[in-house]
Amino acid sequence: MTKLTFGALVALAMTAAASNAISSKAMAQDAAAGKTSFNKCLACHAIGEGAKNKVGPELNGLDGRKSGTAPDYSYSDANKNSGITWGEAVFKEYIKDPKAKIPGTKMAFAGIKNEKEINDLWAFVSQFDKDGKIKQ
Ligand code: HEC
Repeated sequence: MTKLTFGALVALAMTAAASNAISSKAMAQDAAAGKTSFNKCLACHAIGEGAKNKVGPELNGLDGRKSGTAPDYSYSDANKNSGITWGEAVFKEYIKDPKAKIPGTKMAFAGIKNEKEINDLWAFVSQFDKDGKIKQ
């Protein structure tokens, strides 16, 4: 009996380990797809080590960053005063239709409607810390 239970536990642990491996692989693939999607943002935004403000602010450390706080970037009042703290849910809502989420924003971008693309994009963007390094 004891032996059987132990065997079952080992089997369970192995299943868990396997599914963890699969989900982190899926995450990596999402981020890779998100990198491609970020090409739509690149004309105006930089991200990663050494990212500078362009037409739009650099997007390092976006997860948990308050709206309108990239140093030395001149925001619209609408963006600065939106009261948003960037995170997964609000980012996904915003990127679908930026002008609906922040009326008066000067970000001239129609938005992305495809849910998978939005998920991938967040997986990519959210992996950078404030120094532009990939979080461990
Ligand atoms: C045509 C240029 C342009 C494109 C393309 C663009 N943005 Fe922007 N973005 C801006 C500008 C300009 C602002 C500043 C808005 C303001 O101050 O009103 C901004 C602001 C933002 C903010 C708010 C940042 C903060 O610090 O509060 C986020 C998040 C953002 N953009 C994400 C994206 C993503 C992701 C994409 C690609 C899917 C994208 N943008 C595409 C120009 C652009």
